[in-house]
Amino acid sequence: MTFRNPPPNASIATKTEGSKKLFAPSAERNAPAICNVLKSIALRQGNALELASGTGQHIVILAKAMPNIQWQPTEVDPDRITSIQAYIDETNCSNISNPLLLNATQSGWSTKLYPMDLISLSNLLHLISMSEAETLIAEAATALSKGGRLFFYGPFKRSGELISQGDIEFDKGIRASAPDTGYKNDHWVISQASQNGLVLAKTIEMPANNLALVFQKEP
Ligand SMILES: C[S@@+](CC[C@H](N)C(=O)[O-])C[C@H]1O[C@@H](n2cnc3c(N)ncnc32)[C@H](O)[C@@H]1O
Repeated sequence: MTFRNPPPNASIATKTEGSKKLFAPSAERNAPAICNVLKSIALRQGNALELASGTGQHIVILAKAMPNIQWQPTEVDPDRITSIQAYIDETNCSNISNPLLLNATQSGWSTKLYPMDLISLSNLLHLISMSEAETLIAEAATALSKGGRLFFYGPFKRSGELISQGDIEFDKGIRASAPDTGYKNDHWVISQASQNGLVLAKTIEMPANNLALVFQKEP
């Protein structure tokens, strides 16, 4: 599967000694805040899909916090699939399925994974192009069950503006590696979601200038 490698500063994950697990400091830092929002929007039970699961640090925390939900991790990078599996193997959680190799920006995956009650995507939209983001949003909308929820977390422009010096520099660094990528505007994401039958349910300011957008599919 071909995929675009994120720039090194946007996806730092290091090997852990004596294990196949990778460790991303940012995933460790943002997991509690992400988990809290997901807990507040998830149904009591159902199927949840995580796109771009990264190292696997998030999925084990989410599965432990929401044991009645069956979690499906996915990733485009085979090395990260190995890491996700290592995190799963270390837990006793029976509510995590084996990770699937999935390019979230490629058309067609939604039909294989439908119906999902919850879809979570953290820290990817700024690393892909607008047309890739359009495909990802359309596929996620199709994969959701009626009334299902979609959660996006990460850095975004607000009303077209980068909101801090750190965001200006991070966005510039990302676009220096891949000019067609970079921060997406919150209004643009909301409009794309709306065109795919998703209604904005919540906008939540998150730590470190990040944003969570929660959408619901029309029943
Ligand atoms: C910045 S990391 C975020 C990982 C994790 N979601 C988190 O928040 O810690 C971006 C991840 O997206 C994955 N990725 C990049 N392009 C992708 C694609 N087209 N489909 C699925 N995953 C992708 C990368 O392999 C990487 O693990």
